[in-house]
Amino acid sequence: MKSVACKCAFLVFFVLFFRAILLPMFPNFGDFQRNNLDWIHISSSVQAPSEDNRVKREKFLEVPQIVWGLNNQKIAFARACLTARMMNRTLLMPNLSASLFYKEIELLQPIAFDKIFQFDRFNSLCNGFVRLGHFSDVFNRSNTFELQKGSGRKWTLERDLDQLKQFSEESVEVIQIMGKNPFLWHDHWPVKDYAKVFECLVLVEEIAAEAEKVVSKIRARGSNSDDVADVSATTPYVAVHMRLEKDWMIHCKKLEQRSNISEICSSKEEIMSRVAHIGGLRDPTIVYLAVADNLLEDASVLNGWKKGLLPFEKKKLGVSDIYSKHSYLIQSAIDYEVCLRADVFIGNSFSTFSSLIVLERTQKLIRLGVTNSCNSDVRWPSYAYNILGESEGPKKWMTDMSGLSLQAISYGSNQIIC
Ligand SMILES: *[C@@H]1O[C@H](CO)[C@@H](O)[C@H](O)[C@H]1NC(C)=O
Ligand SMILES: *[C@@H]1O[C@H](CO)[C@@H](O)[C@H](O)[C@H]1NC(C)=O
Ligand SMILES: *[C@@H]1O[C@H](CO)[C@@H](O)[C@H](O)[C@H]1NC(C)=O
Ligand SMILES: *[C@@H]1O[C@H](CO)[C@@H](O)[C@H](O)[C@H]1NC(C)=O
Repeated sequence: MKSVACKCAFLVFFVLFFRAILLPMFPNFGDFQRNNLDWIHISSSVQAPSEDNRVKREKFLEVPQIVWGLNNQKIAFARACLTARMMNRTLLMPNLSASLFYKEIELLQPIAFDKIFQFDRFNSLCNGFVRLGHFSDVFNRSNTFELQKGSGRKWTLERDLDQLKQFSEESVEVIQIMGKNPFLWHDHWPVKDYAKVFECLVLVEEIAAEAEKVVSKIRARGSNSDDVADVSATTPYVAVHMRLEKDWMIHCKKLEQRSNISEICSSKEEIMSRVAHIGGLRDPTIVYLAVADNLLEDASVLNGWKKGLLPFEKKKLGVSDIYSKHSYLIQSAIDYEVCLRADVFIGNSFSTFSSLIVLERTQKLIRLGVTNSCNSDVRWPSYAYNILGESEGPKKWMTDMSGLSLQAISYGSNQIIC
């Protein structure tokens, strides 16, 4: 008896010892075990025959291809992640869409998520919150349940939530949600949860390097020195996301009528005038204009700026070739990064693109301990040019991180805290 107990104790010691040695080599392993794993059939027998062994099996959620603009795609992706989180499942890495087509579904070029954002980085930053898996992780593809989300007026927020709760109990390996793009799903999560997912989205190195090239060109233009290498890294710049395309103008006029809000559309002149009234800008200041490509032919976006503001778009900056190599989605991701890193950002509070940039800038300030960037002297301020602020300038803009859903950011709002 004694010797058996001894052997057992030794064995246990041996196992613990190796565990202690091996675990630090795979830092995520412990967390991985804790998350998303469904331990099925935990055997109570000590001498477990092989079929009685603990079989750990991960459960997955599959979603339809994610479509539309970069930022609608980011929101849709985050919504898919949060749905998977609620159902205690790992999200199978979805395809994004490289091209921007709204109707012709067959023209939506699928592009894997990990061609844009770093897969492993995502899982390590979001560890314990949400998790992405590969299709090759699925043990048995035929063990899949197709879940049809409801639609129409009768399919309320509550019914949608009930359905998700009900299927959280489902033990099938893969739940595949059919039908609508996740952007159109009901939203059950607070702004903070979305922000957490967005924080885990880090561009792949090749795209980040392209954005870096553009940012350095902008800063170089803004430094008055000939010795560009010296000064450019810290030369501040302003980015303005100018929405002036014809289809946007039609859309925003309609929105103004429908919602009875007059501060949605801004003309070129209004934008220039409001930016000119921002206090505390250096003279001269370089202004990067993030505009749609079809406006690059219209030189008038570069004319009419106040003396001291030096406007550039891709073409005048000489970076068109950096962009033109890439698909719509990547071009948009580069522009997003350039606006995100600007010292001052001015956008339209009814644009998803602008709204997500301000959300990330707000997060960055909160991380630095700033809880209220409505004060005029805070670093990295953001503004909404479509809303009149102090001294005829644009309104200071900060995201309401306590929002109970992403509604305001998804569809635009003129409630922007400051
Ligand atoms: C993603 O797109 C590729 C084609 O680029 C396709 O082969 C693959 O099946 C797609 N994956 C999903 C999950 O739709
Ligand atoms: C895969 O799943 C299907 C459906 O649940 C089941 O009939 C089949 O036996 C499974 N195959 C294996 C190898 O587990
Ligand atoms: C999901 O996981 C959480 C925490 O691990 C647990 O509290 C909850 O009961 C699980 N839900 C389902 C349906 O398994
Ligand atoms: C629109 O708003 C204005 C004031 O903001 C109000 O006077 C007017 O009655 C509103 N019209 C409609 C149709 O709601």
